[in-house]
Amino acid sequence: SGPETVSPTGQPTGADQARMAQSGAYLTTAQGTRLADSDHSLKAGPRGPVLLQDHHLREKLMHFDHERIPERVVHARGSAAHGVFQSYGTAQAISKAAFLAADVETPVFVRFSTVLGSRGSADTVRDTRGFATKFYTEEGVFDLVGNNIPVFFIQDAIKFPDVIHAGKPHPDREIPQAQSAHDTFWDFVSLHTEATHHTLWNMSDRGIPRSYRMMEGFGVHTFRLVNAQGDTTLVKFHWKPKLGVHSLVWEEAQLINGMDPDFHRRDLADAIEAGAFPQWELGIQTFPDNDDQMFEGIDLLDPTKIVPEELAPVQAIGLLTLNANPSNFFAETEQVAFHVGHLVPGIDVTDDPLLAGRLFSYLDTQITRLGGPNFPQLPINRTHAPVNDMLRDGSHQSAVHRGVAPYKPNSLDGGCPFFAGADTGAYIEVPVEIPSARKVREAPASFDDHFSQPRLFWQSMTPVEREHIIAAYTFELSKVYEQAIKERVLQTLANIDAELCGEVAAGLGLQAPSATEPPTEVGASPSLSQIGKSWPLD
Ligand code: HEM
Repeated sequence: SGPETVSPTGQPTGADQARMAQSGAYLTTAQGTRLADSDHSLKAGPRGPVLLQDHHLREKLMHFDHERIPERVVHARGSAAHGVFQSYGTAQAISKAAFLAADVETPVFVRFSTVLGSRGSADTVRDTRGFATKFYTEEGVFDLVGNNIPVFFIQDAIKFPDVIHAGKPHPDREIPQAQSAHDTFWDFVSLHTEATHHTLWNMSDRGIPRSYRMMEGFGVHTFRLVNAQGDTTLVKFHWKPKLGVHSLVWEEAQLINGMDPDFHRRDLADAIEAGAFPQWELGIQTFPDNDDQMFEGIDLLDPTKIVPEELAPVQAIGLLTLNANPSNFFAETEQVAFHVGHLVPGIDVTDDPLLAGRLFSYLDTQITRLGGPNFPQLPINRTHAPVNDMLRDGSHQSAVHRGVAPYKPNSLDGGCPFFAGADTGAYIEVPVEIPSARKVREAPASFDDHFSQPRLFWQSMTPVEREHIIAAYTFELSKVYEQAIKERVLQTLANIDAELCGEVAAGLGLQAPSATEPPTEVGASPSLSQIGKSWPLD
């Protein structure tokens, strides 16, 4: 049950509406008492000491003193917009999610972000970008919390604090804000070679997008869809921008950072205000849900790997249109709380060990960031589905719950048949077999290959894109103090491509090492010849 002062549609009513709009003919205290003056403290005479009894002064300063909340520990700088998702119905055969049925329109809120900079940092730094979408479906909230790069630095969430500590500014001097031009970042990615693929994407033009409107988005992990018959399909989610994918060049990015640090934020808001609504198609790559969750020799549970689109084409399932700017940045963009565990019937997770940690981390951090456990009641986070959750009390509880027995079954409050079956539209986890195994702290052998996909990415680049990558590595590494770190990075580059390594080494005035990893192809098979082989949508 929702807060008392909110109508069934979630809109504030009566006096509360005026409070939220902060409108009316006169000013009041927070208690609604009419004020005569909000410009002068209460004093003993015009020049006299201020009196402790000035309740209005203390209320005004107390509230101001607590206006700031902690920024997000990552993705602190963001910009967001409201919109709609129009489903094509093409995923209906493989997912029972109601919002994926034909012609269903679902309200959404999308937040784009940089990862490492603080809330006030510049927009056009070289970094990964977040692309998080909240779908307010009739079956509850579904969050697709993705990035503009399809792979991640690490394969196991237990390394997330480490990679972020390495990427954030140095703890002694709190520099630099820009992602990668510093020793700890390059130390980490050269010691953890699974980061090579993501780093290469960052050093490419993808690391400096021209506009949020011109970015792809990726769910990164493999998810499991399930249809009404219980059949499952593994998928990777993709957002494809209607405006195409465009990047800045490095010199532009640097100039813009100085001239307009809000460049991406302004661009998104201005475009929407002018009626040039940005659009993306949501697409999926589909794979059979076989026992080992491998596809063409690629481990689908390894978040440092893509599946080339030649092997599994992206099939469009709906259209996203962003058509309204937030009216209050704090209430919407800042207080929105995304979580990979916000799932609806028809969409389930896989055993990707990075995803497992994320399933814990988002709710956990939001308790601190949003001041307690009741942030699902904030207007931007409120589901559009009815809520009956037995959750009670806690800081900032705004609902006045009824009844004496917040437990089920009970014999006092009427009970309720809440243990629902699959046919009732309830969320049922797919009952996948969990193989019996030894308890270990180790990664599978299929996570070992760290270079074949970076090599594939490099080989897919045009000559000018290669020049940009070489220039980016050379610039970023020129800011590193420790020679041993530069040499270790050159070793990872040698394992990608001799020309890439040689050019960067020459730019740094260092010797280019030879490759230490044998050049393996993607997966076990020469799979790029298997064009168009994927799991059909119908
Ligand atoms: C925030 C994406 C991995 C922890 C975010 C946001 C995005 C994102 C887009 C910003 C959400 C917003 O706009 O409010 C990703 C992707 C990942 C990844 C695509 C890998 C595939 C991880 C991992 C962890 C993690 C492994 C921890 C184990 C967090 C935390 C926040 C965050 C704590 C801040 C959330 C908040 O304060 O509301 N992530 N992330 N992320 N992520 Fe991740």
